[in-house]
Amino acid sequence: MTSSSSDLPIYAERRARLASQLGKDGIAIVPTAPERQRNRDSDFLFRHDSYFYYLTGFTEPNAWLVLAGDGRSTLFCAPKDLEREIWDGYRLGPEAAPAALGVHEAFSVAELDAKLPKLLENRSTVWYPFATHKGLETRVDGWLQAVRARVRYGALCPEEQHDLCGPLDEMRLVKDAHEQDIMRRAAQISARAHVRAMQLSARMLREGKEVREYHLDAELLHEFRLGGSQYPAYGSIVAAGANACVLHYRADAAPVRSGELVLIDAGCELDGYASDITRTFPANGSFTGPQRALYDLVLASQDASAAATKAGNRFNDPHDAAVRVLSQGMLDLGLLDANKVGSVDDVIEQRAYFQFYMHRTGHWLGMDVHDCGSYVEPTQVGEVSERKDPLSNEIIKNRPSRILQPGMVLTLEPGIYVRPGDGVPERFHDIGIRIEDDAIVTDTGCELISRGVPVKADEIEALMRD
Ligand code: GLY
Ligand code: MN
Ligand code: MN
Repeated sequence: MTSSSSDLPIYAERRARLASQLGKDGIAIVPTAPERQRNRDSDFLFRHDSYFYYLTGFTEPNAWLVLAGDGRSTLFCAPKDLEREIWDGYRLGPEAAPAALGVHEAFSVAELDAKLPKLLENRSTVWYPFATHKGLETRVDGWLQAVRARVRYGALCPEEQHDLCGPLDEMRLVKDAHEQDIMRRAAQISARAHVRAMQLSARMLREGKEVREYHLDAELLHEFRLGGSQYPAYGSIVAAGANACVLHYRADAAPVRSGELVLIDAGCELDGYASDITRTFPANGSFTGPQRALYDLVLASQDASAAATKAGNRFNDPHDAAVRVLSQGMLDLGLLDANKVGSVDDVIEQRAYFQFYMHRTGHWLGMDVHDCGSYVEPTQVGEVSERKDPLSNEIIKNRPSRILQPGMVLTLEPGIYVRPGDGVPERFHDIGIRIEDDAIVTDTGCELISRGVPVKADEIEALMRD
């Protein structure tokens, strides 16, 4: 799925924008991901490195981009090799790469060690992504040593090394129109997959069939691939009944029982971009009273988080809004005892809600499901305050959270997870609910791009009746 030629200007513009941040005598080295062995001679399905893809649109393994501060781009890629191509498939090859990818020049990856010292010579600064590729620092050291071996002939060796993740993360954090379009389409495919899984669950139970978590997972995978997605963006969670209270549960083989809820957290990756949707629904299509009470509470908290998502607000605002609604609801429904924990402000201050809501309300979404980008406002990194965490007594250093800008994409995913415990009303035991949508920040609010799957309890029930 190497990008089409009409996308070439997008990658060229990104390279130019990055080059302008490297300094005139700077140079950047960006490898794609390594191939990884699964067992013996089988590899895991290859997935390109997100930074590399962002700058090239190229999905083959065994490739490197070198970008100089003057904008000159050099690609290293697997050479044409008929025998290997018979076994492993088509390779673009360095001869075709400049025209296909818009880079200035391309060489076989076999020439990387010979060419890199030459490219680094007489540069002041080398940029590469820190702590992302095992062994990359060692490779850079080797190339720099080769440059040093030539200094007595008058060559200069770069004296500075910088983390390329910094500028690239900032660029990737704000999605351009091309990226937003792919993310909308990814979310639409994932939404259809959720609809399909919900409907299969109700239909099989109506027909008296045994339903397992993997039956619903199969529906997700089917719809992802039917929509043209390459693979799931992360390991799908299909959690029946009490399994929903395990935050990182994976789709497994547990029975899906009538009367229980199913939590599905699954999203496809389309052309390098993730979607990330969670829906929680009654296996047989009808919520019980206690399930519905908790469901409506989580949905109200998500509504509050969506209302707090707009340009100019901070990344933490949707979380704080969701926590307030959830905390009040926990008091109203008797999950928390006001005689013990006090008012809603006390619940928030003391983090008493944490017993039932122990994760944050969202994260950046993009090429990676937990996408890159600083959660701290870059203009305010020096403004540090301290607070003592009421649960751990740890001193936490806070910095002002990121100011949202149009084009940033984040998830809104509040939840409630009720494990049996002292004083926890039995009617809520083992209910786990999360509702997750994907939001593009706009000037005036946010666009929820994953609402192709209904979210209101009545609409879910109607969908599951059909
Ligand atoms: N599916 C991963 C997450 O929701 O963060
Ligand atoms: Mn998520
Ligand atoms: Mn998720």
